[in-house]
Amino acid sequence: MSTAIRGIGELVTWDDDQPIRRDAGLVIDDGRVAWVGASADTPAADEVIEADGAAVIPGFVDSHTHLVFAGDRAEEFAARMAGRRYEAGGIRTTVAATRAASTEQLAAGAEARLAELRAQGTTTVEIKSGYGLDVATEARLLEVAAALTPETTYLGAHVVPSGVDPDAYIALVTGAMLEACAPHAKWIDVFCETGAFDADQARTVLRAGQAAGLLPRIHANQLGYGPGVQLACEVGAAAADHCTYLSDADVAALAETGVVAGLLPGVEFSTRHPYPDARRLLDAGVRVAIATDCNPGTSYTSSMSFCIALAVREMGLTPTEALHAATQGGAWSLQRTDVGHLRLGARADLVVLNAPSHLHLAYRPGVPLMRQVVRAAV
Ligand code: NIG
Ligand code: FE
Repeated sequence: MSTAIRGIGELVTWDDDQPIRRDAGLVIDDGRVAWVGASADTPAADEVIEADGAAVIPGFVDSHTHLVFAGDRAEEFAARMAGRRYEAGGIRTTVAATRAASTEQLAAGAEARLAELRAQGTTTVEIKSGYGLDVATEARLLEVAAALTPETTYLGAHVVPSGVDPDAYIALVTGAMLEACAPHAKWIDVFCETGAFDADQARTVLRAGQAAGLLPRIHANQLGYGPGVQLACEVGAAAADHCTYLSDADVAALAETGVVAGLLPGVEFSTRHPYPDARRLLDAGVRVAIATDCNPGTSYTSSMSFCIALAVREMGLTPTEALHAATQGGAWSLQRTDVGHLRLGARADLVVLNAPSHLHLAYRPGVPLMRQVVRAAV
């Protein structure tokens, strides 16, 4: 089965020679990008999509979400907007609701949120556990996540659950819980932050995950300066996510090691924290990703376009840099070479925009611009 898209006003491929082309055509064969060129030269195909001058971009790669949970925390958000501070302990509210939910209820909620993401142009998504914090519930969350994406992350080390001794909890996270969760996970994550886990605890968790065959990523430097980013570099994590408070040494270490800095501006929007300085990171040669962090506590948005608009307005990126971070950057973060771009051979995951150019993603914030989301079945 082949599909040709003709009359593309602007095609973003992130190809080295010509990252953005005008008046282009693209052919999809067997779920892969098989041909890219001038619209007038587009070869015949089984099916034709007329883009009529619209822009086509790679589907968004959302490299950080917590889509499997129950309940919401709208009241907590409202209280923050009235002046209360965000605290990591709010996670426990969602843990209580999540433990009480059936697997069917959790799956239905996650599927509904995934449908929201998809409709807004996200074609690859990472999903974490972390609202179970006991062996059975963490494993249930990961089973639900694994039915939706190959990019699953075990985050048993989100916070220490109420009434549990921290050392005993680390032993559980690196022992029986890891054993139950590892079969359903690609990644291991830990929330390294005051009020969650310190550097030694986080290192223990990540090393245990690596020994079980999982790949490390980390929640780091979200609420203040701290050791998370340096730990990410030390263990060879794929990504250090949040990166809101960074020292010069943190920025240098990210640039040196190639660890991707995952920026989650929905969090700063929803916690009234200062935004991370994306400009500083790009100028230092750091690889940057933008993701939603979709979760009920700190960032209940499923919209990558909203995050792009925030990155442009508040974090010093150009619209083109922000789109790159939301597509190619996400692919780097998940160590995927087949998504996040539309070079020859890429998965044919793409979005036809209701707009002549990708600039409109930030230029028209809050406007649904997705005319058609194409996702390869393979
Ligand atoms: O990525 N930082 C830790 N975890 C989530 C917040 C979780 C919550 O408050 O429910 C995050 O922001
Ligand atoms: Fe998160």
